[in-house]
Amino acid sequence: MGIWHSDGLRFGADYNPEQWPESTWAEDVELMRQAGVNLVSVGIFSWALLEPTPDRYEFGWLDRVLALLHDGGIAVDLATATASPPPWLAHRHPETLPRRADGTLLWPGARQAYCPSSPVFRQRSLALVEALATRYTDHPAVVMWHVSNELGCHNTHCYCDVSAEAFRGWLRERYVDLDRLNEAWGTAFWSQRYHDWAEINPPRTAPTFVNPTQQLDFLRFSSDEHRAQLRAEREVLHRLTRHPVTTNLMLGDGGRYLDYHSWADDMDLVSNDHYLTAADPQAHVGLALAADQTRGVAGGAPWLLMEHSTSAVNWQPRNLAKTPGQLRRNSLAHVARGADGVLFFQWRASRAGAEKFHSAMVPHAGTQTKVFREVCRLGSDLRALGEVRGSRVDADVAILVDAEARWGAELDAHPTVDLDYAERLRSWYDAFWRCGTTVDVVHPSADLTGYRLVVVPTLYLVRDPDVDALDRYVRQGGTVLVTFFSGIVDEHDHIRLGGYPGAFRDLLGVRTEEFFPLGEGERVNLDDGCTADVWAELLHPLGAEVMSGYADGPLAGVPAVTRHPYGSGVAWYVGTRLDRAGTARLVARLVTESGVQPPVPSPSGVEVVRRRTDGRSWLFVINHTEQDVTVGATGMDLLTGRSHDPEVTVPAGEVVVIRESSPPEG
Ligand code: GAL
Repeated sequence: MGIWHSDGLRFGADYNPEQWPESTWAEDVELMRQAGVNLVSVGIFSWALLEPTPDRYEFGWLDRVLALLHDGGIAVDLATATASPPPWLAHRHPETLPRRADGTLLWPGARQAYCPSSPVFRQRSLALVEALATRYTDHPAVVMWHVSNELGCHNTHCYCDVSAEAFRGWLRERYVDLDRLNEAWGTAFWSQRYHDWAEINPPRTAPTFVNPTQQLDFLRFSSDEHRAQLRAEREVLHRLTRHPVTTNLMLGDGGRYLDYHSWADDMDLVSNDHYLTAADPQAHVGLALAADQTRGVAGGAPWLLMEHSTSAVNWQPRNLAKTPGQLRRNSLAHVARGADGVLFFQWRASRAGAEKFHSAMVPHAGTQTKVFREVCRLGSDLRALGEVRGSRVDADVAILVDAEARWGAELDAHPTVDLDYAERLRSWYDAFWRCGTTVDVVHPSADLTGYRLVVVPTLYLVRDPDVDALDRYVRQGGTVLVTFFSGIVDEHDHIRLGGYPGAFRDLLGVRTEEFFPLGEGERVNLDDGCTADVWAELLHPLGAEVMSGYADGPLAGVPAVTRHPYGSGVAWYVGTRLDRAGTARLVARLVTESGVQPPVPSPSGVEVVRRRTDGRSWLFVINHTEQDVTVGATGMDLLTGRSHDPEVTVPAGEVVVIRESSPPEG
């Protein structure tokens, strides 16, 4: 059995049989078959059971579980089990524990209590990977390997002495000599010049603002340390086994301090975990964004949804249960956006431990439940959708995102605390979602050829080659929209001088001489009827046309939105935070002007995405509204087997997936 299932998409969960008496396991497999499960991740948090004392391995229980699963026809994504070290590690090696910036030690008793730079952790974890890989390399149930679990979820940054030494090593490699580091960090400021590498520390809690480039480099270093764990485990797995290796990312908000773009080549298959934010009334739009970001990391290739929830989680302030049908809409929205498998955390709801109130495929109440019924329905849906496997998502628009630009933009001592990178990204993304346009969410270094429109929200930090690529893209006929606080600094967080937005002045045909952030809650009017808040700037057009300006506020009469014909293309600039209507109006205009087409026109609240592969295409229509809707589509709905021509009615809250009779040009 390969990683991709021959009959439908992948469907399953994290399976933690060690939490249950062995007598439950046969029933688990039976119920999995009933639900259509065909892939489970096993052993993620099993280190303490697999290696109860150093170098003494107990694989008997895992042998028995894998045999049962295999007999039941269920494939296994085998975890390396390194996600959470056993208590004996910290007991014998307290120096493996992580510390916060203020020196607080993080004790064992939860999970992931290890310093990512600890050589002892690295050595012990790789020994376990080696033992597992050796034992299970030819096991017929195993089809892929799952490195750790959400690397860096709880121990993203460690400031202990071991980390300090590793940070110095990382800096030596990056800068080679101290003069270069001093230059990059701007240490002439505040008497920070270093004369010896040993004087350098992580950005620990200090009397006031810590050197921003030191902070930025520490964020880069920390992401690299987790990446190094991934690479080290993968190296062992590649040496000993032949199956693809993944690790579950946290694209959504969880992974904000991990530069996943730089990890892309370290996974044979990209997988992601996504949980809805209960407090977000449009959480399905956040889901779509996370899925599009995952596809971006995967370079457009199919990916796996490694975890999401069947209903409530347990870790938000108010853990809302999913309403009937929501589990299905969520799952199929991931598939629409490129997932070739849908897995949950977890198979059976725990009866003990910190996650006992987290939903699962088999709830505490058993199988006579809304959740289990919906799980079974989803299993049969995914079987029916098998033919979409391997196809790709159509998108004419790219939004550029960059972890480092976000880290830089959100450092302390900036013009305003009200600028929130994730909010800016989400607000532009929302506007495209609402007008039915599918976007790719990609790194600034991605190949932009083929996109009709590129959106650049708050790309505060930008590297020269990416500036040049964007410039070329527009000269050759592309349309770009750049928003405020973009192009401000280089990779060292040094200001690009001569007026903002330094990197993009020529492209945009504007020069800003001063930022005018607005007061808390202050709102200004624009002369086109929109309002704006948070940000304004004293901007001079240098070739750009003024599309709208401030009607009042500190900059009355100054341009706010500009448009600059450049080469064969056009470059727009938005120098403020437009309200929702203004954002929507601008996006609608850009979409029309650049010739972007939605897959098919659809009413508001209806998500439509097209996947295609040579000569065939499928239209996913997800109705998030409480009314039945009709959209134009001709072909067969794979979920019901019914044919539709020339339109299909999608009942409130339902989903259709049409195999299109004549795939449109793409
Ligand atoms: C994920 C994690 C799982 C589980 C889940 C609960 O972050 O990988 O192990 O804790 O959250 O929502």
